[in-house]
Amino acid sequence: MTTELLEALRKISGPTNVLCDGDLSAWELDWRKRARGKALAVVRPANTQEVAAVVKACAAAGVSLVAQGGNTGLVGGSTPDASGTQVVLSLQRMNAVRQLDAANLSMTVEAGCILQALQQHAENEGFLFPLSLGAEGSCTIGGNLATNAGGTQVVRYGNTRELCLGLEVVTAQGEIWQGLSGLRKDNTGYDLRDLFIGSEGTLGIITAATMKLYPMPAAQLTAWAAVPSMAHAVTLLGLAHQHLGAGLTGFEVMGQFALSLVAKHFPQLRVPFLEAPAAPPGRPEQGTAPSVGSVGTPFCVLLENSDHESEAHAREQLERLLEAAFEQGCVSDAVVAESLTQAHQLWHVRESITLAQAEEGLNIKHDISIAVSRIPEFVQVTDALLEQAIPGVRLVNFGHLGDGNLHYNVQAPADGDAKAFLREREEEVNTIVYDSVARFDGSISAEHGVGSLKLDKLEHHKSPVALGMMRAIKQALDPHKLMNPGRVLRM
Ligand code: FAD
Ligand code: MLT
Ligand code: ZN
Repeated sequence: MTTELLEALRKISGPTNVLCDGDLSAWELDWRKRARGKALAVVRPANTQEVAAVVKACAAAGVSLVAQGGNTGLVGGSTPDASGTQVVLSLQRMNAVRQLDAANLSMTVEAGCILQALQQHAENEGFLFPLSLGAEGSCTIGGNLATNAGGTQVVRYGNTRELCLGLEVVTAQGEIWQGLSGLRKDNTGYDLRDLFIGSEGTLGIITAATMKLYPMPAAQLTAWAAVPSMAHAVTLLGLAHQHLGAGLTGFEVMGQFALSLVAKHFPQLRVPFLEAPAAPPGRPEQGTAPSVGSVGTPFCVLLENSDHESEAHAREQLERLLEAAFEQGCVSDAVVAESLTQAHQLWHVRESITLAQAEEGLNIKHDISIAVSRIPEFVQVTDALLEQAIPGVRLVNFGHLGDGNLHYNVQAPADGDAKAFLREREEEVNTIVYDSVARFDGSISAEHGVGSLKLDKLEHHKSPVALGMMRAIKQALDPHKLMNPGRVLRM
């Protein structure tokens, strides 16, 4: 049966696009190096018809599929399980921009397009495609849609769902659903597009999408501010909304410990307003100040003002905002980037936190969301709970404060073994954090999704009614459980 399937796949996509031997770790090992699977084969179809034929062949053989774009997902959802029986369907070769409709402010693109290439394509045509995240050099638009990715511009433009006008999908039966309308309004029944967005490859394969474009702003100005506490960061956010209105296109918060990891692992980067640590990050000594990254430690904020008038106007607005913020005592120091290069440098520091954390060692990630107004109290309470449970625990707290979305990540104590920490404490840490999130009426995943890492937690935190409806949808669209089984939902 397996030989027959492989032969059929070779016929569909050509022998060089069906990989079974050699080093397949690029497809089998996840970005965080936490999930190593074994694929029966990696298939790289060239177009939608080939995707449909691959799905049909796998369905006939009863073989399940894992869709994969750039393999930058952070929740163990994009790699095969360890059974050696799953086919990885890589969208890498489907990377054409099919159409850019200037009057409709939209572009239709294939699922394997790299996000950065799409930003560049839009810019070359005089438009802005605002989706932006640290993995943009390797993640694909199909993966962004499948995870409903957020990133750093959500405060103004929304997450990937809000940027999508239509989809083309290959169903679990191998049929092609043509939903690539560029329509902004369509109330003809259930919204199928929204079912597939955020479904993490468990309902069908996204092969193409029509995405929104925006006029390119005349100026995008970036400021970096030191704030005395998370509560002050929230006050600054309120001021930024008041002063900048729709011009506020980014509002990121970064804890000092998160920034100290960037400085440690990428010493070539200049990190503004980084405090010299009172003690090496990690276990606080008896009677000394708490280590950086713990309760009360100041934060930095990166904020962006986009303006359709002029750079001078954008700068004036930003300076007025910072003046007001100084007056109210919610900013203790600030710089405004003088050039695009400087702005890129500041964003680069922010985007390097994930990589710096990975360099520091295996860690526990959370991408939670809470109402912005309740975030300071959540952080204070949860920091204290974690520090009490695990003395010396290191909290890497940063994220998209403008959207109420924190990466409330947890690193082993400085002198601890990261692997052992994960093995022995991950469950306890997750329970502390997610129970706290529940007490604050938040969500256990704001942007990375569920994958395999949060399966149990989803079951625990979603209501039986919600889980029942989700299972009914899965059962209706993928009755034979061929689409990324064991991810998102246990059936
Ligand atoms: P993959 O990792 O290949 O796949 C992710 C999931 O989508 C899997 O379940 C997979 O089966 C499914 N999938 C992929 N393609 C398809 C398809 N065509 N059809 C159906 N299902 C598919 N996420 C954020 O939301 N915000 C951030 O700011 C952010 N920053 C990141 C920074 C770094 C450095 C890294 C490594 C990751 C970051 N991520 C972030 C996480 C990640 O979700 C995104 O990088 C991206 O959306 C994943 O795209 P991908 O092409 O790599 O998808
Ligand atoms: C980011 O915003 O940089 C990623 O989503 C965060 C992470 O690495 O947890
Ligand atoms: Zn993020």
